[in-house]
Amino acid sequence: MSPDPSQASETSLRKDAHLDLCATGDVAPVENSTLLECVKLLHCAMPELAVSQVSLATRLFGKTLAAPLLITGMTGGTERAGQVNRDLARAAEEAGVAFGVGSQRAMAENPSLVKSFAVRDVAPTTVVIGNIGLRQAAAMGLDALRRMTESIGADALALHLNPGQELTQPEGDRDFQGGYEVVTQLVRAYGDRLMVKETGCGLSAAVVRRLVDCGVRTIDVSGLGGTSWVRVEQLRATGVAAEVGAAFASWGIPTAAAVAAARQISGPGVTLIASGGLRTGLDVARAIALGADLGGMALPLFRAQQEGGASGVKVALQTILTTLRHALVLTGSKDLKEFQQKPKVVVGELKDWLRGT
Ligand SMILES: Cc1cc2nc3c(=O)[nH]c(=O)nc-3n(C[C@H](O)[C@H](O)[C@H](O)COP(=O)(O)O)c2cc1C
Repeated sequence: MSPDPSQASETSLRKDAHLDLCATGDVAPVENSTLLECVKLLHCAMPELAVSQVSLATRLFGKTLAAPLLITGMTGGTERAGQVNRDLARAAEEAGVAFGVGSQRAMAENPSLVKSFAVRDVAPTTVVIGNIGLRQAAAMGLDALRRMTESIGADALALHLNPGQELTQPEGDRDFQGGYEVVTQLVRAYGDRLMVKETGCGLSAAVVRRLVDCGVRTIDVSGLGGTSWVRVEQLRATGVAAEVGAAFASWGIPTAAAVAAARQISGPGVTLIASGGLRTGLDVARAIALGADLGGMALPLFRAQQEGGASGVKVALQTILTTLRHALVLTGSKDLKEFQQKPKVVVGELKDWLRGT
């Protein structure tokens, strides 16, 4: 694909506007819930464990992580975005968690932007994941995609789905046909190195089933309850687009409901990531109790970076992972496998979702 600098700068400008809105704006409406609060973990007053015996280790894309957390893809394409990526990646490497760059569309349009996505010098060993939207993937073709992934030394590619956001963007896509065909081609090219993610509206059981049938083995449900990309675009829009966006700012499947339904229909061969509104280590624990293999977070770690750079992210990760470790101790679990087998209580609205999905 030949670079188109004018489109490239438009893409970069839009990404910068997104960063501004996400840094301070009301992009995660409080009335939107993950429903993770409906999961009650059972306290064990006699854990019979030392904190040092608890392992949070897990595997992702053939590597071992110290803890089941992914900083999900956010940015790249400008100097400012490059600094965000480097700070996040550095902290991820130090904590032994995975890191994803944001959409590499700008870089595909203008390859000189690669440096704002390249983080291997600060994150040489941990899992690094590339990122592209479904429509752009279809337009680019497999060779260009492979080069894009290799140019940043990524372990895998995340394909993002965002029809709600596209519809709210006046300049966004309006044709969503042929998506599974694109996914099937990407599975042929990337095999187990492909991950499919939503961006805050969630994946239903039916979509997860079709993705698994296409051969996808890593799925991030990225559900409702955190950053709403419909909301972000609504805040950028005016007139009809803003009004229509407002109607859909709470659209989506709550993360807890999405991950529980996805686990029911996908076997142990599928790695499930729960993101969308996870804000604490306890949220990560609850998502894992529902069947996720890892939790994912975007907005809270971006905001930690904005406030304190890489060391701000480091402190945020320490807090999240210490909380998660304590959740394992207080349920008497020495590792994640044991933790998932512990009894839990599901209350309230999540019970309705579990009956209905
Ligand atoms: C500033 C920002 C930029 C994002 N850009 C992308 C992107 O380029 N590609 C993508 O797949 N998801 C992107 N996302 C979505 C996140 O990866 C995640 O799916 C979503 O924000 C829900 O997680 P959260 O509630 O923890 O923010 C972005 C999120 C944020 C906050």
